[in-house]
Amino acid sequence: MKIVVIGGNGLVGRQIVALLNERGHEAVAASRATGVDIVSGTGLDAALAGADVVVDASNSAAPYGEPSYDFFSQGARHLLAAEARAGVRHHVAISVVGTDRLRNSPYFRGKGAAEDMIRASGIPYTILHATQFYEFLLAIVEAGGVSGQALRLSPAYIQPVASTDVAEAMVQIALDPPRNTTLEMAGPERERMSDIVKRFLNDLESPVDVLIDEHAPYFGAVLEEHSLVPCDAAHRCPVGFATWLQGSEYAKANW
Ligand SMILES: NC(=O)c1ccc[n+]([C@@H]2O[C@H](COP(=O)([O-])OP(=O)(O)OC[C@H]3O[C@@H](n4cnc5c(N)ncnc54)[C@H](OP(=O)(O)O)[C@@H]3O)[C@@H](O)[C@H]2O)c1
Repeated sequence: MKIVVIGGNGLVGRQIVALLNERGHEAVAASRATGVDIVSGTGLDAALAGADVVVDASNSAAPYGEPSYDFFSQGARHLLAAEARAGVRHHVAISVVGTDRLRNSPYFRGKGAAEDMIRASGIPYTILHATQFYEFLLAIVEAGGVSGQALRLSPAYIQPVASTDVAEAMVQIALDPPRNTTLEMAGPERERMSDIVKRFLNDLESPVDVLIDEHAPYFGAVLEEHSLVPCDAAHRCPVGFATWLQGSEYAKANW
């Protein structure tokens, strides 16, 4: 079975490609690095020739503002059209828990528009909504914009997950028949964003102070307490924050 992974050299995409190839499938990474650009459509027809399944694990290089909306909406339009031409039998996409609750954010509005296009495409599909990856905590710090020694963060709850667990789930989904629905997954622990980031920064011996601010935007959206938490039926993955941190590059760094 030929499986094309769009964004196959990204954080979760490269793990999906590696796992599929280890298990004897023909997994091919496609992204701008291999001459495939989903925003312009360049290279898609050649990359999808003979593909049975497409996994979309791409992400916008610009995480804020209208460019992120354009990335997801234009990317999905070109990708789904190319899949229809190639006769792809299963479109697998990763998205984010809470996407439908964060329409004030161009990033999440773009992800929502892409999901709507997937559902309307006529191509059998499975969408996986995952919570934030542990690796993403640093992106939350960067996105928060440190001013002096202070970082203002929302106290909304998050339930982050290991990207290794998400990659495993995406592989299983890609190998299973399409479900034509959206599944959710999360890590084992729910904590306030401000608290977990504070703990992470302490572990990194960072001098930055986390200030709680209910109005601090998260990728353009102001969060309600439960905007980012998964539904009750979400699959709970085993790897918690402490276990992830111990095995991460941060634990090995000599600060
Ligand atoms: N990070 C998280 O915490 C998290 C949590 C839940 C869900 N997700 C979702 O998971 C997906 C992947 O996230 P990630 O953090 O693994 O992404 P990432 O590490 O930022 O990787 C992004 C990938 O997209 C590719 N890409 C960017 N622009 C492209 C374009 N125009 N055409 C084709 N490929 C393009 C990049 O490769 P090139 O640079 O070579 O093009 C790269 O392979 C995203 O949809 C994200 O919303 C992420």
